[in-house]
Amino acid sequence: MMLKRRSFLTYFSLGWLTACFPVVLAACAPKASIQSTATIDDKGATKPVSKITADGFTVVGSVAELEKAGYIQTKEVAVSKDPTNPKQLLAVSSKCTHKGCDVKWMAGEKKYECPCHSSEFAADGKVLKGPAKTNLTTYSAKVVGTQILVKI
Ligand code: FES
Repeated sequence: MMLKRRSFLTYFSLGWLTACFPVVLAACAPKASIQSTATIDDKGATKPVSKITADGFTVVGSVAELEKAGYIQTKEVAVSKDPTNPKQLLAVSSKCTHKGCDVKWMAGEKKYECPCHSSEFAADGKVLKGPAKTNLTTYSAKVVGTQILVKI
């Protein structure tokens, strides 16, 4: 009787350990560095993109998207090529510094315009026309492979 009880406890313990092992492994694994955020397409709809947090840079779009549209814009940031040096990327906040509306890239004029009260900003975020008095916040941007990353 004692032997059966011991065997039962041994098998029960092994079964319990086997069942819990994957859960323990998952709990101990490093957290994924990829998170989700969103971009705004031409029609104003949002679409998810990946966010890389390891070095603080976020994937905001692809080089192909930038080449096609001339800019990339998410809810947080807008990226365009420097009009004076197309090899250089300029990343600025998407939020107008007047009252926080989302600025829009005007491709023909190579500047951002706010639809709420008509403030205008250069590609580098400098105020061109009020009522906004403060430049758009600027961020570092870089190309990694085929993707555009911004340190937000
Ligand atoms: Fe942009 Fe007023 S919120 S100009």
